[in-house]
Amino acid sequence: MAYFFILLAIGQQYLDETHARSEVPGISYFNTSTRLMDTQSEEPTIQKIQTLLLVGFYQQGLNRSITAFTHYGCAVRMSLAMGLHRRMKSLPLEEQEQRRRLWWTCFCMDTVWTAKLGQPVHVEMADITVDTSELITLNDGFNSEILRANVQLAVITGDIMKTIYRPTVKKTIDDLLSALRKLGSFQKNLPPRLKSSIIVHNDRTVANLYLRLNQIVIITIRPLVLSVFIGQQDTNDNSTEITQAIKRCVGAACANINILFHLKEVGMFSKFGFWDVRYLFSSLLVLYMSSTDKNLIPGGRDLNRLMSEAGNFTAIENEIRLRELDSLFEKFRDEAETEAKLYQHSDAISPNTILLNEISNIFTTQEETDDEFLDFIRPFSKEVSPEVWKNLTTNLQSWDSTGYV
Ligand SMILES: *[C@@H]1O[C@H](CO)[C@@H](O)[C@H](O)[C@H]1NC(C)=O
Ligand SMILES: *[C@@H]1O[C@H](CO)[C@@H](O)[C@H](O)[C@H]1NC(C)=O
Ligand SMILES: *[C@@H]1O[C@H](CO)[C@@H](O)[C@H](O)[C@H]1NC(C)=O
Ligand SMILES: *[C@@H]1O[C@H](CO)[C@@H](O)[C@H](O)[C@H]1NC(C)=O
Repeated sequence: MAYFFILLAIGQQYLDETHARSEVPGISYFNTSTRLMDTQSEEPTIQKIQTLLLVGFYQQGLNRSITAFTHYGCAVRMSLAMGLHRRMKSLPLEEQEQRRRLWWTCFCMDTVWTAKLGQPVHVEMADITVDTSELITLNDGFNSEILRANVQLAVITGDIMKTIYRPTVKKTIDDLLSALRKLGSFQKNLPPRLKSSIIVHNDRTVANLYLRLNQIVIITIRPLVLSVFIGQQDTNDNSTEITQAIKRCVGAACANINILFHLKEVGMFSKFGFWDVRYLFSSLLVLYMSSTDKNLIPGGRDLNRLMSEAGNFTAIENEIRLRELDSLFEKFRDEAETEAKLYQHSDAISPNTILLNEISNIFTTQEETDDEFLDFIRPFSKEVSPEVWKNLTTNLQSWDSTGYV
């Protein structure tokens, strides 16, 4: 029953309805589910793990990120206790396949959330023996291809957290570039079906994969963008590499705003989902630090406003922060009015083609020196009062930080 009610709660969260009532979508179902949930018994079961994952997922949107984290942690521990991470050849194939799917789903959800909070990623790949590919087709509509791609991306995310965001590891630009290369080859080797379209009617799975990929590019390079912006990084050293990496970060931010915009056009944008708010905010912060690609900012801001008007408090909070950024940037930038210039697609080329090209360009930018490009994030500190500069850099550092670095 707890499982049943949490399914209803998530269904309502994603209905994309604007509620006249002030109630958070799905909260009554959620309350019922957690009331019914058995938290005391010693015996882990498949359904308990599924329930924990969904309860954690719903809580992501409730500003309860730590509770979500503990629920995912609990699901992982129960899975380990049941041996879901191990190949169990004695079990019937159907059962093995179900266990396999649940294990990797658990792995992905836990890794993504753990990385978001900047916590240590726990389970090592070397301890896992269960397959990443389908063992048997169950003909139930489950998409094993997308799960496999998500697993690969989660593994790279774990590696990035263990190098770039580990407080005891000294990171170099080479580490950032090597992480980018891994992400690039992941993108290149995706199965053809996942490379043919992003915006699919009634199915966000591929779009979500690309949103996640671009978000990881952003969190990988963001420390570099920030340190160049703040003036800690000497851009004369390794300027080609730095330029490359920053271009990719800005490209990923643009691609994500464009994907979200297209999802909204086809009615698959979730005003109450956690990640859409997050992707948008991370992308916008990158674009604020860059002056080359400001065209997308007004459109991205419109999307955030849409969510905050629907009552999403994460979006409301972000709106307040973005306004503060506006006023800080106004102090030293004579900004030319930029118009909302989200992707204007012509009828001749489908949005899918444009989005896919945009994403593959992120990873294939040619090595070229482009000295002017770096000027956009040259330190502005001398142009403003120390107070404005301090507020600006503190905000950029803390608002979208991953981890405690
Ligand atoms: C759900 O539970 C929370 C906390 O127990 C409570 O504050 C809230 O009013 C409940 N909402 C509904 C609609 O039952
Ligand atoms: C979200 O949670 C944090 C930490 O518990 C709190 O500081 C913040 O005010 C909350 N935001 C909203 C909109 O409730
Ligand atoms: C700059 O590039 C050189 C050669 O590729 C490398 O050894 C060095 O670590 C790089 N510097 C930084 C700060 O990453
Ligand atoms: C800087 O931040 C402080 C504390 O939040 C605030 O009181 C002050 O008004 C801010 N200054 C500017 C110029 O925004």
